[in-house]
Amino acid sequence: MFLFLKLWSTLAFLRSFVDATPLGTTSPRRSLDEISTMDIVEIEAFKPYTYYAGAAYCNPSTTLTWACGFNCEANPNFQPVASGGDGATVQYWYVGYDADLDTIIVGHQGTDIAKLLPVVTDVVFLLSPLDAALFPNVSSGVLVHSGFKQAHANTATLVLSAVTKAMSAYSTNTITVVGHSLGAAIALLDGVFLNLQLPSASVSVKSYGMPRVGNPQFADYVDQHLSVSHVNNKCAKRFLGFAHCSGEKHINDSSVWINCPGQDNESNQCVVGEVPAILLGNASDHDGPYDGVIIGC
Ligand SMILES: *[C@@H]1O[C@H](CO)[C@@H](O)[C@H](O)[C@H]1NC(C)=O
Ligand SMILES: *[C@@H]1O[C@H](CO)[C@@H](O)[C@H](O)[C@H]1NC(C)=O
Ligand SMILES: *[C@@H]1O[C@H](CO)[C@@H](O)[C@H](O)[C@H]1NC(C)=O
Ligand SMILES: *[C@@H]1O[C@H](CO)[C@@H](O)[C@H](O)[C@H]1NC(C)=O
Repeated sequence: MFLFLKLWSTLAFLRSFVDATPLGTTSPRRSLDEISTMDIVEIEAFKPYTYYAGAAYCNPSTTLTWACGFNCEANPNFQPVASGGDGATVQYWYVGYDADLDTIIVGHQGTDIAKLLPVVTDVVFLLSPLDAALFPNVSSGVLVHSGFKQAHANTATLVLSAVTKAMSAYSTNTITVVGHSLGAAIALLDGVFLNLQLPSASVSVKSYGMPRVGNPQFADYVDQHLSVSHVNNKCAKRFLGFAHCSGEKHINDSSVWINCPGQDNESNQCVVGEVPAILLGNASDHDGPYDGVIIGC
């Protein structure tokens, strides 16, 4: 029985991962406070970032030369600056500059659901404060999942140094951090981190299939300090103690993109409301398609 409960709560937690992501664009024509369907222009604007999130799954030797296949070819004017990770204990990452979007891009690798399981079970439900050395001045009431915190810390210093170099080389202070799944969780933490470490920078996060990363205070902190858009399709379940930041773009079963205001909007048009709580859903939906793009290398 205990084992069953443990498995059940692990699955519930896992589901909480599969869901929460904000990716957002602002339309001048209507308020972001309304649930609304997104138009083709708004949806298309996500596409370069969807490929950037996919490129983060590619070996760092190929992102460093920007020869990683279709994900790299989709953004042909990208200027790589640095990359790293081993894809096992340290998720892949890369940093560079996109002149078309005029932003530095930071990409973080995710992992498939099966590989996510050890991350979850190692530290089941453990919420802990952010490391003050990396995240100065954040209230101790702000708690995040310890597994995500560790995964972010593994690459934080190298990413910061590459971003600093890129800001200087390309004379920009715009930074966009992208990722899918576990990579989305790392991207959200990296957004908070870079925003604190680089006060002159304008940091935003665009993520796909993002899990809930921290407690409601963390979600509030993110809403106050960062611009986040998290795109999700289908499955997503809340887990006690965790909350999503604002910025949800939900792709429903008819492939319509819906702008969902607020944190964990309960409308049946958004992810919390639409997906039946009991079912695990189809894990393959997690990889997309996001406007026709399946994320992966
Ligand atoms: C921390 O907060 C204090 C007081 O608000 C401020 O003076 C200081 O610049 C902050 N430090 C960082 C690294 O943000
Ligand atoms: C998706 O959203 C559109 C627009 O709100 C709606 O017409 C359609 O019925 C929705 N599809 C599903 C499966 O809920
Ligand atoms: C969900 O969206 C509606 C707008 O349609 C908004 O009034 C409501 O406050 C939102 N809910 C949350 C929890 O943010
Ligand atoms: C899950 O989705 C994939 C792709 O849409 C589909 O091929 C597969 O049959 C689905 N699996 C289940 C159990 O529904």
